[in-house]
Amino acid sequence: MVRSKRDAGGGRRSVGGRVASAAAAAALFLPVAGALAGERQEGRSVSDGVYSAEQAGRGRREYIQHCATCHSTNLRGGEMAPGLVGDTFLGGWSGQTLWSLFDFSLATMPQDNPGSTSPEAMNAILAYMLRENDFPAGSEALALDPAADGDPITID
Ligand code: HEC
Repeated sequence: MVRSKRDAGGGRRSVGGRVASAAAAAALFLPVAGALAGERQEGRSVSDGVYSAEQAGRGRREYIQHCATCHSTNLRGGEMAPGLVGDTFLGGWSGQTLWSLFDFSLATMPQDNPGSTSPEAMNAILAYMLRENDFPAGSEALALDPAADGDPITID
């Protein structure tokens, strides 16, 4: 299903997120986290090293090829398109899942040829975007699945 970033809401907040009462949220969340323990990706955020350095390098090449004409080689955007780095960009996606960003990008980008990027290439491009937004790399490559709605990696 294609969802725009604006109405994809309902993104789950991670424990310690900017909620009015983090303690109350944690009290509600922890039993759930316990019940789901063992699910590899439960409760991860983009700060937890969700892509590999090698993948981000590949993503850079894909980005230059498919995205940079509009979003610029330094990801800061320009007259053609908004930037994909920094507080303005991240703020717009805060609290949503990385999967929502993946789904949005696969379905609507490149804007002049939507759907032309493979899921594997888009995972690599997101890895590169995470790197350029100063999120740390980890040991495993990002492997979001277009069919797995709700993959719980949050953007924060
Ligand atoms: C032909 C120009 C063009 C190309 C190529 C292009 N984009 Fe875009 N992109 C846009 C425009 C225009 C917008 C703003 C309108 C919108 O959000 O749909 C946008 C918006 C976005 C957004 C949302 C930005 C925000 O502020 O939340 C993302 C994410 C994105 N593009 C990713 C990509 C990726 C990844 C690629 C390469 C696979 C790509 N774009 C290629 C024109 C382009």
